[in-house]
Parts: sequence; structure tokens; C-alpha cells
Amino acid sequence: MYVSLALLAVLSVYLLWAVSHLQYSLKTTEQKLQSLQKEENEDHQEGEEHYELAVVMGRFQLYANKLWFSGMAGNTELADFYAHELEEAMEEVAEQNLTENGQSITEQIKIWGLEPLEKLEEATATGDKQAFEQSYDALVSSCNGCHVTCGYSWVRIKRPETPAFDNQWYTQN
Ligand code: HEC
Repeated sequence: MYVSLALLAVLSVYLLWAVSHLQYSLKTTEQKLQSLQKEENEDHQEGEEHYELAVVMGRFQLYANKLWFSGMAGNTELADFYAHELEEAMEEVAEQNLTENGQSITEQIKIWGLEPLEKLEEATATGDKQAFEQSYDALVSSCNGCHVTCGYSWVRIKRPETPAFDNQWYTQN
């Protein structure tokens, strides 16, 4: 009788310990799962917020190339078209709320991008080739000025020598 009572007591203590141990491991597993879920959500948000500035810069470069050949061909309409495309691409960048090496891209694009581009548009409209050349060079210097400011001094833009594509007329029709 005493023996079985003692056994029962031992068994109950063991069961109590086992249950509390299970509860504990269940709780830690739950916590691990929650933190994993949180990490996954954060990764997802980062993915959505990620904007590839280099890709849109490639568009800047292409429009800057086409803009030069249209302007030099005296094709005011086409030059104006590319200036406008460049402006739209710059505005898209300005809306993104990006920072590069502590610099607000929205602020920098206004100073180094939209302002010189506006001057170039004005010069293009006059049809004066020299004014076009000057304002084009000023824009190119601004591209580089922004690259220096944002910590990308090695991305150096210049006047183009050959059209990026050879299957388009730059002269007026
Ligand atoms: C806001 C300032 C700013 C202005 C203005 C700017 N850039 Fe950039 N550019 C950057 C930054 C920052 C990078 C690096 C992007 C990255 O790391 O994703 C870059 C990278 C580039 C690259 C390298 C990517 C590639 O495709 O090879 C090119 C080319 C480029 N810019 C062209 C231009 C041209 C052309 C202009 C002017 C019409 C211009 N940029 C104006 C900030 C600027």
C-alpha cells in the first residue's frame, strides 16, 4: 500500500514536471516562429521599397545621348521630346524618398537635375545651337556634380561621340 502510494507520488511529480517542460518548449517554439514571421515581413517590405536607382540612371544616359544628337541636328521638336522624357525620369526619381551616402536624392535631383534641365529646355526652344551646346554641357557637369555629391565620383558623363542607336533619324523630317 505505502509502496504504491509512494510510486503514485513519484509518478505525479514526474507528470507535473513533464507537462511544465512541454509547456515551456511550446512557448519558446511559438516565440521563435513569431520572430521568424516578423523577419519575413520586414524582408518583404524592404523588397517592396527597393528602387533601383542605377536602372533609371541608365535611362538618363540614353535620353542624354539622344538629346545631344537631336539638338545638334537642329531638330528642336525631337530634342524637346527627349528633354521632356529626361524630366519625367528625374521627377520619378524625386518621388522615391531615397538617400545615398547621407544625401537626399529628392533634394539633389532638383539642384543638379531639374534646374539645369529647365535651362536646357529654354535654350532648345530658342533654336540657337550655341546656346543648346552650352546648356547641354552645363547639364552634363551637373550629372557629374551630383555623382560627386552622392559619393559616385567615378561615374563620369561626357558629351557623346556616337549615337547609342544607329537605327533612328535625328534630323528633321
Ligand atoms: C541625384 C543626383 C544625380 C543626378 C542629378 C544624376 N545622377 Fe546619375 N547617379 C546618381 C547616383 C546616386 C548613382 C548611383 C546609383 C546606384 O548606386 O544605384 C548614379 C549612377 C549613374 C550611372 C551609372 C549606372 C549605369 O547605368 O551605368 C549613370 C550612367 C548615370 N548615373 C547617368 C547620369 C546622367 C546621364 C545624368 C544627368 C543627365 C545623371 N546621372 C544625373 C545620382 C545622380
